[in-house]
Amino acid sequence: MTTYITTPIYYVNAQPHLGHAYTTIVADTYNRFCRLRGEASRFQTGTDEHGDKIVEAAAGQGVEPQTYVDSISAQFRQTWPLLGVEYDRFIRTTDADHVNTVRHILQAVYDQGDIYFDSYSGLYCTGCERFLIERELVDGKCPDHLVAPKPITEQNYFFRMSRYQQRLIDHIEANPDFITPARYRNEVLSFLSDPLEDLCISRPTSRLSWGIPLPFDADYVTYVWFDALINYLTGAGYPDNPDYMAIWGGAEHLIAKDILKPHAIYWPTMLMAADVPLYRKLHVHGYWNVAQTKMSKSLGNVVRPADMVADFGIDTIRYFLLREMTFGLDASFSNDAIIARSNADLANDLGNLCSRALTMIVKYCDGRVPEPAEPQEIDQNLAAAAHEMVDSYCGYMADFQFHRGLQQLWGFIGEANRYIVATEPWNLAKAEDGVRLATVMYNLAESLRIIGVALQPVMPATARTILENLGVAADDPSLNTFTDTDQWGRLPVGTTISKGKNLFPRLSPPSPQGEKSSGGAGPKKKKHKGDDSHTISIGQFKAIDLRVAQVVAAERVPKSKKLLELVVDVGEKRTVVAGIGESYEPQELLGKMVVVVVNLEPATLMGVTSNGMVLAAATTGPEGVNGLSLVSPEAGAKPGDKVS
Ligand code: MSP
Repeated sequence: MTTYITTPIYYVNAQPHLGHAYTTIVADTYNRFCRLRGEASRFQTGTDEHGDKIVEAAAGQGVEPQTYVDSISAQFRQTWPLLGVEYDRFIRTTDADHVNTVRHILQAVYDQGDIYFDSYSGLYCTGCERFLIERELVDGKCPDHLVAPKPITEQNYFFRMSRYQQRLIDHIEANPDFITPARYRNEVLSFLSDPLEDLCISRPTSRLSWGIPLPFDADYVTYVWFDALINYLTGAGYPDNPDYMAIWGGAEHLIAKDILKPHAIYWPTMLMAADVPLYRKLHVHGYWNVAQTKMSKSLGNVVRPADMVADFGIDTIRYFLLREMTFGLDASFSNDAIIARSNADLANDLGNLCSRALTMIVKYCDGRVPEPAEPQEIDQNLAAAAHEMVDSYCGYMADFQFHRGLQQLWGFIGEANRYIVATEPWNLAKAEDGVRLATVMYNLAESLRIIGVALQPVMPATARTILENLGVAADDPSLNTFTDTDQWGRLPVGTTISKGKNLFPRLSPPSPQGEKSSGGAGPKKKKHKGDDSHTISIGQFKAIDLRVAQVVAAERVPKSKKLLELVVDVGEKRTVVAGIGESYEPQELLGKMVVVVVNLEPATLMGVTSNGMVLAAATTGPEGVNGLSLVSPEAGAKPGDKVS
């Protein structure tokens, strides 16, 4: 069965923003996730182009509605590739096949007696494009648009929604996954505990002509929600394709909580009246707020997808949005939060693992995946952790708990990083233990493959780079899908590994106004050229505070051959920058005991602030420094011990 995932079709009265981007990225991720599991899927998004709102927006710009909708719809269509989104159909409610489907359904429901003509007085909210009932108002206003709805009386066509109320309640009760998360299912059931009113589904052409004419009365056009919801069926080929159930049977709608009622109440009852089976699932998420407040044009805090991508890159944005929001609840968007996640999860955890593992395989195994020997307990534990991760990752992703799925994946990335520290491949290389080294390198390559495969739905470009570096062919489903959890050991021996580029450079917070970039911003020292050997007093020497330190993290400073950024434990954690990158690989340093000058003024080197200096011994010959050796204390020294 094909899974058919849809986003709302967005109104073209505003340009695409972060909120639209989130829903569309989630749909794209889910679509890619279905394919990762080897299941067929189809993904539809599009634009909602009829109704009062659109006419108002076009008039505001002094253009015809058609000209206006063409231009904004194109902006939505052009935005999605910027976010790595690949849909199967972009539907517009002005498309000919959609107009046809809407008219077909209206006629069918009319013919069987569920549409009647009546006079109606009600409170109409233009923002919601629907009549509100008294108990939905807060202080007499629409709670979403904060304006009092207008009293309107007119003759209109009505859909006998009330007739299907009990059937809908029964369906929701019998199918606990029909509306998720559960809070929204409960909200709908609570709404349905009061009698449902019938739905006004027409607008007189004297008031609004920008809509789909009713097939049974040319003086009326279709109410925009009755028109818009049907897009989901049009996309499945209804009614012309007799096989439309092959797609429609797998329909899963994705929306935010703002449009719960039309999707959870109007739409299923419309389907019942049209004698079409109901959609499979409705997934409902919360709102993105920007820096704790609601995003709105008037507050000037609308986040545009093109700007997010220009600032942070596609995959970082996709990861952030999926990792940060608990699906169903509201979340907060800020540059600081993106930078923090990007540095910790992407540059540190994932980026470091990739660069350490690939660099070592290239260096120690001539750039080829080596043949592993008998596994030891630590190897078996790593393989078991990979199985568990694939299992729980897939479970959470299928359940729309993306943040949990990603937590599981990052848990395994941590396992793989700890595996490097525990197996100390650099010592195996020094000890010339080729068999054990080959096993450790194989296990790292296989861990990276599994991580790369899991990342495909969320970070497609990053995943592609990781898999390409491992020599995994993009069209090999046995290596780049999770059709079962039994994954370990599939990477073929002998494939060529390439080191690749740094996946995620560290991001610095934007500098406050007027301040230059941090490079060279540290205190400037006067150069004593040629007098390195000038004498100091014993007092000056004693003032130097030297401490034993243990290296707990190490990575190269981007764009520098010499500089390494180390996190050392001197009783407390500190960042120090050391110019030893030509003599040491970062991974060799993890766990190593060194000596650090801890009372130097901080200095900023290539944008990284160093709080101390690592002692290394260098010999200088006619061609310059011959190589550096770190000064290491004798065994028994503990981090923070004073060196005197
Ligand atoms: N045209 C209707 C939908 C018809 S579907 C048959 C509509 N359009 S809309 O442009 O207002 O889009 C609403 C949807 O945009 C939300 O349900 C959600 O998917 C997305 N979001 C808009 N703002 C959002 C946030 N601030 N946060 C999260 N999602 C948001 O309603």
